[in-house]
Parts: sequence; C-alpha cells; structure tokens
Amino acid sequence: KSRITTRTLQRMRERGERITMLTAYDFPTAKILDEAGVDVLLVGDTVGMVVQGHSTTLPVTMDQMIYHAEMVGRAAEHAMVVVDLPFPDGQLDLLHSVRCGARVLKETQCHAVKLEGGAEQAERIQAMVGAGIPVMAHIGLRPQNIYVEGGYRLQRDIERLVADAKAAEAAGAFVVLIECVPSEAAAAITAAVSVPTIGIGAGRDVSGQVLVTHDILGLTSGYTPKFTRLFADVGATIREAAKSYCDEVKAASFPSDAESFE
Ligand code: KIV
Ligand code: NA
Repeated sequence: KSRITTRTLQRMRERGERITMLTAYDFPTAKILDEAGVDVLLVGDTVGMVVQGHSTTLPVTMDQMIYHAEMVGRAAEHAMVVVDLPFPDGQLDLLHSVRCGARVLKETQCHAVKLEGGAEQAERIQAMVGAGIPVMAHIGLRPQNIYVEGGYRLQRDIERLVADAKAAEAAGAFVVLIECVPSEAAAAITAAVSVPTIGIGAGRDVSGQVLVTHDILGLTSGYTPKFTRLFADVGATIREAAKSYCDEVKAASFPSDAESFE
C-alpha cells in the first residue's frame, strides 16, 4: 500500500470515502494502528493528558512532541503522520511556528503539523504552507484555549465556525479538523469548504473521524467525553495479565523449567 498524502485525502473527500484518524504517541502502538489501515496518525498534544497524566494539554513542550513524533514517524509505513504544535509554539510569532514546523519535517519522519485556530491563525497557516509545511487546522473546541474559554465546552456559533473553516482553507490548510460542535454545524462547515473535514464530537456529516486511541482502548481512567466509544477494553486486559503474572510468580509456577536455563 502506498503512503497517504494530502492528495490522497483530497481524493477521498471527493469520492465520499471516509477518512480514519487516530492518535499515536509511541512506536509499537503506531505500528499496530498503521498495520490496521488507519489513514492518518496524529501525534497529538493529548499525550500530555493520556500519557503524561496532566489535566490539560498545556504543559507539553515542542521537544516532547519531537520525541514522540520520531517514534511514530519511524513506525508508520502507510499512514500520513500529523504532529500537533503545542502551546505556545503555535501561538508565538509566525517565524517561530515555521521553525517548529520545519523541525517536525527535518527531525522526524512525519509529514504535516496541526495548529489550533481558524481565522486568527490564517496568516500563520499561510506562512507555514508557503514554507512547505502542510497544515491541518483545528477549529471548534480548542483544548489549548481552555483557560480563556473556562472549560471544555460545545462550540455552537455556526457563523464563526464556518468563517474559521473558510479562512483556514483560503490560507492553504489541507484539512479542517472540527472538535465538539453540533452535527448541523459540522455539516455546514463541510458544505462550505472543499478540503476534507475530520470530526471529533462533530457527528457523521464530515469527511472523516478522529478519536484519542487511549480513550477507545480503555487506557484512560476517569472522565471520557460523550463522543468517544470504547472499542476494546485493553486496560482490563493489561490488568488481568499483570494479576496473572503476580499470581504465577507468588505461586512459583513462573518461570517453568522450559522458561529457565539448565
Ligand atoms: O491532541 C489530540 O489528540 C487532538 C485530537 C483530540 C484531535 O488534537
Ligand atoms: Na491536540
């Protein structure tokens, strides 16, 4: 199978073939997701929450993103790999963001970056795309904006959402990712742009879906949002395996003779 590119995704939207995207932060998981045929892997700054144990994405650094992007980029043979610009690297001066995007392309085997924001990020998107760095725009709920918003909330302002999507497209974004908006808003955005739209908590009327892998595998404890689905409880499987290991060691039934050297 050949590599998924910006052009592949555009063709998929035109054909009505739905795009699949999941987060990945490490080599073995990325390899499994790639082999499963996931179209796009996202090295998301959610790594700060689901791997590092923070309560927001804000503490994640650019160096940490590069560290995870290296592992995922090395694993993916088919999927396109997109890397989040963390806070505040996607908000400081344009040249700084271009440099960070360039680091992603030079230091990792990943292919694009994701930036939170629409209209207010148009100039930055244009500068980055102009420099040869493909940009996925992330509109609707923007987790890096949590302290301005006062929490993670459904975004209902359809006019603003459509304007953000159009501005991102005009600036050269290759995909508009839409987080946590009513289905009708996501449908309106998708109708208003010709690039693919990828939704999370945005209903079905979009070009594709993205979820946080740890959420769908039961590897996140506590609160999970309404828009996610548990596809397999890998967390429970790991817990059972660890318990069995402990039991066998305590009972001296591990290791067996076959698992030992003479
Ligand atoms: O960081 C991330 O995982 C994301 C997804 C929630 C889209 O940005
Ligand atoms: Na993110």
